[in-house]
Amino acid sequence: MSSYNVAVVGATGAVGNEMIKVLEERNFPVRELTLLASERSLGVEIDFHGKPVPVKVLNEDSFAGMQIGLFSAGGSVSERYAPIAAAAGCVVIDNTSAFRMAPDVPLVVPEVNPEAIAQYRKQGIIANPNCSTIQMVVALKPIHDVARIKRIVVSTYQAVSGTGKKAIKELADQTRALMNFQEVQVQVYPHQIAFNCLPQIDVFLDNGYTKEEMKMVNETKKIFNDQSVAVTATTVRVPVFYGHSESVNIETEKKITADEVRKLLTGAPGVRVVDNPAEKAYPLAINAAGQDDTLVGRIREDESIPNGINMWIVADNIRKGAALNAVQIAEVLIRDYL
Ligand code: A2P
Repeated sequence: MSSYNVAVVGATGAVGNEMIKVLEERNFPVRELTLLASERSLGVEIDFHGKPVPVKVLNEDSFAGMQIGLFSAGGSVSERYAPIAAAAGCVVIDNTSAFRMAPDVPLVVPEVNPEAIAQYRKQGIIANPNCSTIQMVVALKPIHDVARIKRIVVSTYQAVSGTGKKAIKELADQTRALMNFQEVQVQVYPHQIAFNCLPQIDVFLDNGYTKEEMKMVNETKKIFNDQSVAVTATTVRVPVFYGHSESVNIETEKKITADEVRKLLTGAPGVRVVDNPAEKAYPLAINAAGQDDTLVGRIREDESIPNGINMWIVADNIRKGAALNAVQIAEVLIRDYL
């Protein structure tokens, strides 16, 4: 089997750390692993298969001889360096929103639209969707295929790890401070996140929605390759460390019962149905954390309309929502294209 030189850009971050772990766990055929971050990380080493790998400072020459670049160092780093990497022959799998809506860049969830990867040749870049979008489309695609989803209404309950390591620390620090009757420091989020819910993720746009909400709307249509699916979203940051939860309501063209949805999703790729109200069994963020599957439960018919279903969808935002999805894309890339 061939092996590949892989670069991880943003290797010291929450998603970068997980990318390294997922490459190792899935035995991705890595010939040489290059870890890249800012000059702040000089001297840092991260273990890969039991050996310490030094973190190097990202620069324009970092991609010579690389075949695959996993990027998760923020949109501005991707905007600048992804085209440089692609020009050097390194296929970029980008976890930021920088290229997601670019017409020539495929936006891929391997369980949903692996065929889109073929478009990578145009720019040498493949975009990894937003974490909240990924888990939603993994659960909804099998339903869309049989009953055609006309409209999606989603509200999210998103973990702080999606904002990166500084946000994980902010929730821990604020929680500790409040339990000790001390004042909280607010730095990463616009308001206190501990013991609170913030109905703002990313910046507000002219239409009154946040950028995160519009990512869910636009990315879902692109991944389903179906502009006719109506999507409306409210995205909320909650004081959870790992695991995004989502309340999802769908309206379908064809009638589908809750039982049929349960059957359809049982055995669907990347999905695990956890739905036994009698046993108080439903998806929980603390159970999804560290897992690969997207958990789906609370499946029930929406009695307010003829063809509606409600469900609760939970996944590890750092794994399926970011690192795992990126590595799965890389697996299809080397299997079918490189
Ligand atoms: P560093 O640790 O050197 O700052 P998180 O999302 O958890 O905050 O992590 C962000 C990741 O992106 C880190 O690995 C961080 O490296 C990296 N990063 C941020 N800005 C840059 C930059 N200008 N050049 C290279 N890496 C960067």
